[in-house]
Amino acid sequence: MTYPLDLDLEGRRVVVVGGGRVALRRVRGLLAAGADVTVIAPRVDPGLAGLPLAVCPREYRGGDLAGAWLVHAATDDPAVNTVVASEAERCRVWCVRADDAALSRAWTPAVTRHGDVTVAVTAGGDPRRAQRLRAAISSALAEGSLPVRPQRPARAPGSVALVGGGPGDPGLITVRGRRLLARADVVVTDRLAPRDVLAELDPDVEIIEAGKAPHACHLSQEQINALLVDRALAGKRVVRLKGGDPFVFGRGGEEALACVRAGVPFEVVPGVTSAIAVPACAGIPVTHRGITQDFAVVSAHLDPSHPGATVDWEALATGPGTLVLLMAVARLAEVTAELVKRGRPASTPVAVICEGTTDRQRVLVSTLGEVAEDAAAQSIRPPAVVVVGEVVRLREALGAA
Ligand SMILES: C[S@@+](CC[C@H](N)C(=O)[O-])C[C@H]1O[C@@H](n2cnc3c(N)ncnc32)[C@H](O)[C@@H]1O
Repeated sequence: MTYPLDLDLEGRRVVVVGGGRVALRRVRGLLAAGADVTVIAPRVDPGLAGLPLAVCPREYRGGDLAGAWLVHAATDDPAVNTVVASEAERCRVWCVRADDAALSRAWTPAVTRHGDVTVAVTAGGDPRRAQRLRAAISSALAEGSLPVRPQRPARAPGSVALVGGGPGDPGLITVRGRRLLARADVVVTDRLAPRDVLAELDPDVEIIEAGKAPHACHLSQEQINALLVDRALAGKRVVRLKGGDPFVFGRGGEEALACVRAGVPFEVVPGVTSAIAVPACAGIPVTHRGITQDFAVVSAHLDPSHPGATVDWEALATGPGTLVLLMAVARLAEVTAELVKRGRPASTPVAVICEGTTDRQRVLVSTLGEVAEDAAAQSIRPPAVVVVGEVVRLREALGAA
């Protein structure tokens, strides 16, 4: 078994014997760590020119390791590397041999850095395996799926990130959203946000349920705004985790305005909206060449006859494009009747996709004239996206289940 160690090489002499591409890679890492590097090689890679190091343009000689803390034997001649390694052994200097891991007494790991976190990987002397592992760890770090939340100084300024979590599948939140979640002190979450990602948070992250859900509190928009601002003013990094995109019927604009008014720094991380992603994952493209060039996304939570309804159903009924209706389940009968009354043929195909992108996804395919009755018969419940238009027929051709 070996003994892993992290070295501070600042200002310490390190000798690199060899001037090729392997030596160049080693030199770059050593210089980044602040080492005082000497390269010994009769010929050196042009990439070494101009770097802040000493070059001895000759073969290696006995005595070259004087004063060195570490040596890299990185020539393409095993005999030279053996001479270097033997002298290193005598002088009690650690030697990394690039040509033969089995003969080496020290090894360079595959390294990935993420802020102040450094991960070094060795894998049984197999550098390619170590590199593959390093790549996997590096992308997990970038995604924010590893617990790298640093300790923060007291009185660090707080902030709010309005993060679009996508339609439900945890794979559909953005890399930036995941990264901010991994650093959050407080997460204020909606019912339709991708809740699986919450399980990855550190146990001391405060999770506040803001959405309507059984057995969970429901906060008014004003309470949510105040909560975001108060926690941020107390120095917390707050993530407001929302379903889909924060600015598509998500009241993200109101939360952003609350931050502006309170002088709280905030950022918006767009999300994959259910309006497009839920049909897509159910095999329905909202546009398709030769079928339709436009689509409209409509909030259908109000009965069209309601005095507060501002949707122009006349324009939507007579236009040729795909209609994507959100929050439509409760008013499906009124809304579909209105569209038929104003000119959309009752035979227009309609799909209702419930809990899209999750493993509970259900799809009902019907027509504008019959969908309300079919949905009632099948006890369709929100959340659901309703797609009205010829594009629904593509679902079969695309082989969606
Ligand atoms: C208040 S809106 C928020 C929309 C969200 N901001 C977005 O961009 O997807 C909530 C509505 O989005 C739709 N919705 C969100 N996630 C859904 C999902 N996974 N499956 C079906 N519909 C969904 C439903 O129509 C639901 O009533």
